[in-house]
Amino acid sequence: MKYFSSLRIKLFAWITALILTFVLFSLFMNSQFLKPYYMSIQKNQHIEISNNLSELYPGKEEELQLEIERIERLGGYRVAIFDKNKRLLFDTTISTADRTLRQPPPPHDNPQLMNAQTPLNVSFDAIKNEGYIFHESHDHRLNINFLEMYTILDDDKILLLSGQIDSMKNSIEITKRFFMFTGIITVIIGSIAAMLISRKFTKPITELKAIAMSMSHLDFSHKYQVTSEDEIGELGTSINSLSNQLNRSITDLRKANKKLKQDIEKERKIDQMRKEFVSNVSHELKTPISLIQGYAEGLKLNIVDNETDKNYYCEVIIDEALKMENHVKELLDLSQLESGLFRIEYSKFDITELIKEIITKYDRRLKENKINLTYSEASTIMVFADKIRIEQIIINYLNNAINHIDKEKKIDISLSAMGPNRIKLSVFNSGSHIPENDLEKIWDSYYKVDKARTRAYGGTGLGLSIVKAIQEKHGSKYGVKNIEDGVLFWIELKSASESSQ
Ligand SMILES: Nc1ncnc2c1ncn2[C@@H]1O[C@H](COP(=O)(O)OP(=O)(O)O)[C@@H](O)[C@H]1O
Ligand SMILES: [Mg+2]
Repeated sequence: MKYFSSLRIKLFAWITALILTFVLFSLFMNSQFLKPYYMSIQKNQHIEISNNLSELYPGKEEELQLEIERIERLGGYRVAIFDKNKRLLFDTTISTADRTLRQPPPPHDNPQLMNAQTPLNVSFDAIKNEGYIFHESHDHRLNINFLEMYTILDDDKILLLSGQIDSMKNSIEITKRFFMFTGIITVIIGSIAAMLISRKFTKPITELKAIAMSMSHLDFSHKYQVTSEDEIGELGTSINSLSNQLNRSITDLRKANKKLKQDIEKERKIDQMRKEFVSNVSHELKTPISLIQGYAEGLKLNIVDNETDKNYYCEVIIDEALKMENHVKELLDLSQLESGLFRIEYSKFDITELIKEIITKYDRRLKENKINLTYSEASTIMVFADKIRIEQIIINYLNNAINHIDKEKKIDISLSAMGPNRIKLSVFNSGSHIPENDLEKIWDSYYKVDKARTRAYGGTGLGLSIVKAIQEKHGSKYGVKNIEDGVLFWIELKSASESSQ
């Protein structure tokens, strides 16, 4: 059903039907009008001949004789002349020897002439009135059909012109058959041509349809090859540009949609993180507050009576208050760093000097803990960064190293060049490795690998997230790796030679 409704089939059917109609029409015209047309031509010929003859008679009898012979020989005509009373004066059907046109016509006595006389059942007056009278007759003797014409010659004679019409009928038959034959061939060739034409015309439309179809499935990879400048070419061009535009818009939409989804996901994560953060903060503050509350109440109720115990109570309260103060400081620091308002204060300074200052401050604590700290760099190394923040990072790393040190109790601080403009600062401490799974997470706020241990040294889990925030503000990298016998934390610094301007 779909096949028959296709444009190609329709076009083919229409062209073929048109050709068939024309062929049938011409066959119909042939069969209906060929014979009358032929007859009218024949009649005109009769009239023309008779006009020629009447120009020659009377007066030029000899030329007339010649003309009649010519007509007889050339066209197979019979020419006969009668007088007013229908008596035969001359007839080409009688032997040539007797053919003399009598002038004036004597009473008829030639027996041969008598025989040849045609039964003339039209009157002289009727012929005179009509001018020409035609009549189809059949010669039984010869079995031939004739077209006879009677007209007036020289006012008082009747001219009979008779030409056979069988050959004409034959020709008509042949013509009809030939027309039939050419008609069939025309239809066959015509339908093949119609097929080719319809294919040629519908091929680009079929192609365009396929392109539009794939466009509806959001496939814009197919393009129409424009080869003509006609309406189809123009349609192809507009479909191509439509496809391009749609492709662009849909790609944009998809991108926007993807971005939106990512934004929503990010928002959701941020929200989640905020909730976790708040719950972490309150959880972390709850413990020291309840400790302080408990010990303060104990003191108030005089639970302990000796000085040593009282001192112990006071120390716990002071200690917990200090921890809380530290915690709040770190929290404020972090929230300041993470707020959009925070600006890094860049300056040029000697990192070696800074490290040495910090080590000096830690001297007592290191000795107390029997830690062997090494820093072998002696030369001045200028960096371009926020000095206070870098100091904060080093202190954080060093504190962590002291808090997690183990085995041979070694800490090593070192500097190394990372390409022309970067310097890597590393803090190594001997001790156990951080589980691989936690290497990423320790940079999140409040994340602690071992909660009990962290609590023991009074950690909050905020130090590394502060390091991370500072480095991100600097646009520099940071990291940690487990190496032989311990862990190594590092940051990257901009060398001052590059960024001093
Ligand atoms: N040098 C280190 N060796 C082993 N673990 C470490 C080291 N430094 C940090 N960590 C782990 O990373 C966690 C997060 O560190 P940090 O953010 O500085 O918090 P805090 O020091 O308050 O515990 C620590 O709780 C600890 O589990
Ligand atoms: Mg820390």
